[in-house]
Amino acid sequence: MSPDMPTPTAPLQLSRADMQALGERALAMVIDHFESVRSKHTTTTMSREEAVRLLHTPPPESPTPASELLETLASTVFENAFRADHPRFYAFVPSPSNFVSAVGDFLMSGHNVFAGHWLASSAASQIELTVLEWLRAACGLPETASGIFVSGGSMANLSAIVVARETRLGGHDPASVVYYSDQTHSSMSKGLRVLGFSQRQRRAVVTDADMRLDVDALAAAIAEDRANGLRPFCVVANAGTTNTGAVDPLHALADLCAREGLWLHVDGAYGAAAVLHPRGAAALDGLGRADSITLDPHKWLFQPFELGCLLVRDARLMKLAFRVEEDDHADYLADISRHIQDDVNFFERGIQLTRSFKVLKLWLSMRAFGLAEFRRGIGVGFELADVAHAWLIESGKWEIVTPSQMGIVTFRWRGVGLSAHQIDALTARIVDRLRENGYATVMSTLLHGRPALRLCPIHPAATREELTATLELLTGFAEAGAGELLTRL
Ligand SMILES: Cc1ncc(COP(=O)(O)O)c(C=O)c1O
Repeated sequence: MSPDMPTPTAPLQLSRADMQALGERALAMVIDHFESVRSKHTTTTMSREEAVRLLHTPPPESPTPASELLETLASTVFENAFRADHPRFYAFVPSPSNFVSAVGDFLMSGHNVFAGHWLASSAASQIELTVLEWLRAACGLPETASGIFVSGGSMANLSAIVVARETRLGGHDPASVVYYSDQTHSSMSKGLRVLGFSQRQRRAVVTDADMRLDVDALAAAIAEDRANGLRPFCVVANAGTTNTGAVDPLHALADLCAREGLWLHVDGAYGAAAVLHPRGAAALDGLGRADSITLDPHKWLFQPFELGCLLVRDARLMKLAFRVEEDDHADYLADISRHIQDDVNFFERGIQLTRSFKVLKLWLSMRAFGLAEFRRGIGVGFELADVAHAWLIESGKWEIVTPSQMGIVTFRWRGVGLSAHQIDALTARIVDRLRENGYATVMSTLLHGRPALRLCPIHPAATREELTATLELLTGFAEAGAGELLTRL
């Protein structure tokens, strides 16, 4: 090409000025979101027809100005969402994010670091190892432990079972059995199904009155299965159930697993992060006896989606489970493997080969804020669940179904003069009224076969005043609904 010919622009490239302009607009949108989220409704949903009308297009052969697309996103996608990062979003497991971590995600994808092996991402791998080390120590696991960051709790739980199965059973065994409580998150049985465990290999054991796994019932199930020629190999304990925050008896389960030679996996996707706080550490006593732990920073560690973590007591076992073998024909990885014998290659600790440097956001926010600030943030969830519990009792109108524990309280309208059936219908109606109102989001769950309202106020910017205002709203909806039911009698 002659030098005076204009240089053709390579595909998909932007000038510095264009990158700057687009970046500034996107940054302003995110800052606006952080500043305005509290003034918005907690949930806004668009109808399918409207979504199709506004967003469905044919494949875009020709370009649209990116600034125009950002405006479309601002008025549709970001306006119509379950705002799980809203300080008055008390449903499910809220996902209170933070701005520093959002910057971390931007840096991660902007630099597109391949975090699959040491050669590609030595410093990034070190950061991942360092954060794993912080979490390992916090959970009370020995120095042999380490792990990997994954997309979330579902993937961490599934990966834990892979490690347990490969190293305890030497692979798939149709006689093997995994035990967990009937309060265990659905991701566990789903993961087991994906891994080929049939229904008889997945044993949901009953819980006691406090929704904790019944250790005697578990021991009996294990004995029965052994007598029937099955091969028990793994128990999954909860470190904070999604439903009620219940923590299974970790010491008793660790003792049982030691006696029976079983792998103990602890699903702490929701609750294990609370170990950083003294109240969490006390509630989670025994956590460090697990063979593996799931802990989701995108829940009670205030990270944007997606960030889950698997910790394994003996980290070498992960490589046994996820190694790439000769007959996997990964010949193009031979040079990598030759160079990295002694270093950590995250593709040998989990399912993914290509993986992003997703822990960057956690490292950045933990370093930038300091752990004391995280501890303060976690404390808000404990305190506000207590506040709600006390308010509900004080009102005299609500029954506590499960007490404030690990940042969750569940409750039901007392409803003098109403049948259990009517109160159950009223519970659903209260949820709907609050959703229509939009001030806050509270949902119900089923406990001992009956619906109950469930509050999980773990946003670090959640306030006592707004929580109380929400409880007053719920009370108003309950009184109105109960009044209508009684006049119909
Ligand atoms: C206790 C528990 N385990 C596992 C999961 C699944 O995690 P994820 O949704 O990140 O896949 C959840 C999600 O709420 C959970 O609360």
